[in-house]
Amino acid sequence: MTKVAPSLLAADFACLLQEVKRMERFGADWLHLDVMDGHFVPNITMGPLVVQALQGQVDLLLDVHLMIEKPQDFIHQFYQAGAHLLTVHAETCPHLHRVVQAIKKMGCKAGVALNPATPLNLLEYVLHDVDLVLIMSVNPGFGGQNFIPAVLPKIKALAQEKRKRDLAFDIQVDGGINTATAGPAVAAGANVLVTGSALFNSADPQNFIRTLQQLPAGK
Ligand code: DX5
Ligand code: ZN
Repeated sequence: MTKVAPSLLAADFACLLQEVKRMERFGADWLHLDVMDGHFVPNITMGPLVVQALQGQVDLLLDVHLMIEKPQDFIHQFYQAGAHLLTVHAETCPHLHRVVQAIKKMGCKAGVALNPATPLNLLEYVLHDVDLVLIMSVNPGFGGQNFIPAVLPKIKALAQEKRKRDLAFDIQVDGGINTATAGPAVAAGANVLVTGSALFNSADPQNFIRTLQQLPAGK
């Protein structure tokens, strides 16, 4: 079954806890928290305090997507705040192997994200160490953008590599996921879908989540 991770970016921040509980009730699997620093991406969102405020309030895996420079300086704070999975961008880590090891050493799951223009081969020598690879299907910084179909072959190639090496990491896709784009992403090999605006604007979010979860997995 495909996992669905609602992106909080699209929630009503004036009542965040209710929004999160609502997503849990609707059957979401994970909760995706988008951290932006105004440097790596042209937007600023939330920090460890928001993770801490939600920690323990819901049973969802707290999936923290760090769109920040120097993520190594903040991983400890986010882990202490309650993050279960920390995903760093390969573009921000000249010492990617070191950062991945540091995350795992704390007892946290480690993910690596790639922007749409970043090639897969950057991950060649860390692939066996990661718990998740996040393929960005928009340029990070904002919710509500259109899915970039050019990333589909990248998802497919990653899934192939995963099979070839007999690895077990999750393949997450983030950006512009809706009922039209989710199918091709899952068929290409994604097993975790982040969804923000399409889910929160949906007339029937429960059904939206269920529809994504039931998409047939790719071969
Ligand atoms: C983009 C973020 C995404 C995004 C998802 O920088 O990483 O998580 O907010 O939202 P939608 O589904 O609206 O693209
Ligand atoms: Zn994200």
